[in-house]
Amino acid sequence: MPPHAPESTAGVAPSLDICHHTAMSVEIRVCPPERFAEFLRTDEVTFSEDQPDDLYERIEAVSDKERFVCGIEDDRFVATAGVFSLRLSVPGGDIAAGGITGVSVLPTHRRRGLMSKLMRLMIDDCHRRGEPVAMLWAAEGAIYQRFGFGIGTFSLNLEAESRAVRFAREWPTEGRFRLLPAGEGREIVEPVYETARAQRAGFLTRTPDWWSGILPYSEKDKKGGEARRLVVYETDAGVEAYAVYKTKAEWNVRGPNGQLIVDEAMASTPRGTREIWRYLLSVDLMQTLKTWRLPPDHPILTLAAEPRRLGVTIGDGLWVRILDVTSALEGRTYGLNGHGHGRVSFDLRDEYCPWNAGRWCVEVEAGRASVARTDDAADLALDAKDLASLFLGGFTSTALSTAGRVVELQPGGLAAADDLFPTALKPWCPQVF
Ligand SMILES: CC(C)(COP(=O)(O)OP(=O)(O)OC[C@H]1O[C@@H](n2cnc3c(N)ncnc32)[C@H](O)[C@@H]1OP(=O)(O)O)[C@@H](O)C(=O)NCCC(=O)NCCS
Repeated sequence: MPPHAPESTAGVAPSLDICHHTAMSVEIRVCPPERFAEFLRTDEVTFSEDQPDDLYERIEAVSDKERFVCGIEDDRFVATAGVFSLRLSVPGGDIAAGGITGVSVLPTHRRRGLMSKLMRLMIDDCHRRGEPVAMLWAAEGAIYQRFGFGIGTFSLNLEAESRAVRFAREWPTEGRFRLLPAGEGREIVEPVYETARAQRAGFLTRTPDWWSGILPYSEKDKKGGEARRLVVYETDAGVEAYAVYKTKAEWNVRGPNGQLIVDEAMASTPRGTREIWRYLLSVDLMQTLKTWRLPPDHPILTLAAEPRRLGVTIGDGLWVRILDVTSALEGRTYGLNGHGHGRVSFDLRDEYCPWNAGRWCVEVEAGRASVARTDDAADLALDAKDLASLFLGGFTSTALSTAGRVVELQPGGLAAADDLFPTALKPWCPQVF
């Protein structure tokens, strides 16, 4: 357990079991396991979504039920939040990370502080369990910055004119593709994902239950939509890439106008990357390719002859919250090659997790850090959100300083941090949870 961790909270936090609000009483408690479907249905209402029942079975399979909390009024769910027990890849390895999910408050109960109470529970629960970081995908970025979450990864999104993108060079067409039936393929694609995961921070480790929600699990979409497909790319060297995608046929007066939507395309080699994207951009009758959550340095940008035709937009990806400065910062390696040397100290502001606040020194030898409190003058001043944005290597301190976020207190402080925190490849979280 990390220092300053809150005391054990059976049923999450006794002090917050009952929240009283004007003209109502909402009990906040661990979701009774037999009522988990109600938890998910409440989310469906607040997110204005209509999910297939078989997706819910898959969510339930990966949920550690004691980490799912609800607000109940008159025996009805009015608010929900949960945490998946996950591991997050960081430079040089992976660490435990609480994946906050399903944060929802019914429109009838919004803006009365319920989400804030649920977040306090979630954050304290992650900290108590010794998870160095919490992370989430935000429906809206403004919701979570008040709790010290900063952008950990970017999401590059494409809305490409498939045929117009073309490749910048005449690379030879090699290898072959196979479409696999629903329910098959995990053993084949897992090594590809693992190779990709080892190359970048931001990936999540996947159990077989997680995989079964990510790969196609039925030949037909139960709600009458388009079924997802799994295609693998292989050469004599083995499987080098895969993609999960769906197609949406459409016709207009000029002819075919279909859309291909890529859920996930992953490769273990440059050739695999090139060939899987060649495939995805050339499926017959598809005019547009859409995808979300690519890293900002994804190879497709430099493979393309016409990068503008990729229709790139960029937004926030995974949001990260440092819960324990020492274990988080000692959990990763430093320097572009992972073998950096150097020292940087900083004054950290953290009102929401005050046990983190104060002056810290990061001393790096052969890529590994010792992190300790210090009384020496600090090189930098920053807040919890800034440290979160530095953590996976996606931002440099200098970049954050140009927004007035990180402030250099000693000459050379920004350069010292920039020698340590950034990574050769940008962090990438390909998976929403
Ligand atoms: C977002 C949501 C969970 C907020 O719940 P809530 O109980 O109304 O939130 P709270 O009352 O605790 O709000 C706390 C603060 O956050 C602010 N806030 C809440 N939702 C916000 C939003 N979408 N954008 C910006 N600020 C927001 C509130 O204004 C309040 O600020 P204040 O303390 O300065 O007054 C709820 O509106 C909801 O379920 N929305 C739809 C689903 C969703 O977007 N969930 C988030 C999933 S990632």
